[in-house]
Amino acid sequence: MALALKHAALCLMLLPRFLLAAVMLWVLDFLCIRKKVLLRMGEGGGGRGGGGGGGGGSGGSPEDDPPVCVSDSNKMFTLESLRAVWYGQKLDFFKSAHVGHCAPNTEVLTVSGRRSRRILDCARDRRPQYADIADSLLVYIEEAHPSDGWVSSDAPHQIPRHRCIEDRLRAARLMLAEVPGSEVVIDAMDNSSNAAYGAYFERLYILRDERVVYQGGRGPEGYRISELRNWLEQYRHDLLTSNTAVLHV
Ligand SMILES: *[C@@H]1O[C@H](CO)[C@@H](O)[C@H](O)[C@H]1NC(C)=O
Repeated sequence: MALALKHAALCLMLLPRFLLAAVMLWVLDFLCIRKKVLLRMGEGGGGRGGGGGGGGGSGGSPEDDPPVCVSDSNKMFTLESLRAVWYGQKLDFFKSAHVGHCAPNTEVLTVSGRRSRRILDCARDRRPQYADIADSLLVYIEEAHPSDGWVSSDAPHQIPRHRCIEDRLRAARLMLAEVPGSEVVIDAMDNSSNAAYGAYFERLYILRDERVVYQGGRGPEGYRISELRNWLEQYRHDLLTSNTAVLHV
């Protein structure tokens, strides 16, 4: 009984957001509207960005953000798409990662060797541009567009839903082949990292001293590399100015 009530409360809370997304998907199936919306998103994408800091000099610009592309042949309003949107919103609602709070230290597996590790112990990759201030890590979660779910012909590979860890490893290796040299780990089969970080479909985070300091929006529409860059540039700028202050003393 208590469980049923909890479920009902959850549905009521999530329903408005879900219905809005459903209407949006339905509208996007009219191709003329889709074209206009995608174009607008492409142009104005960065308009909402910059919240992460700004003023950091050569920070991120809207060009950094990957455009949302949907080919005409893809239907947006289907049972599978609605299911995926509901699932994503539910994960987002229940995630435990919040700015200013402890970063969930979930279990992940290494792509080479399948060793079990904790997510906070894994960041190691040093992107040339930010090697002085940050390590990075790519956590591969479940497929946004599995070939047996919300299919998308825009996906570079047709990958069915992962049924076992082997499936997930195989798909992660495909991704690693496209971004060689990156530090890639996979989510465990209980999808605990995905759930803790509300990551589905895709999401950016910055963690510092085991706390969440930046939480990007839910991808694809909220996925803004420019915001991440702005945050990092601002952070570097603050570090430099505080160092200078110490020198003056
Ligand atoms: C995690 O996600 C996969 C799809 O990638 C699914 O097959 C599996 O059942 C999920 N695990 C749980 C515990 O929900």
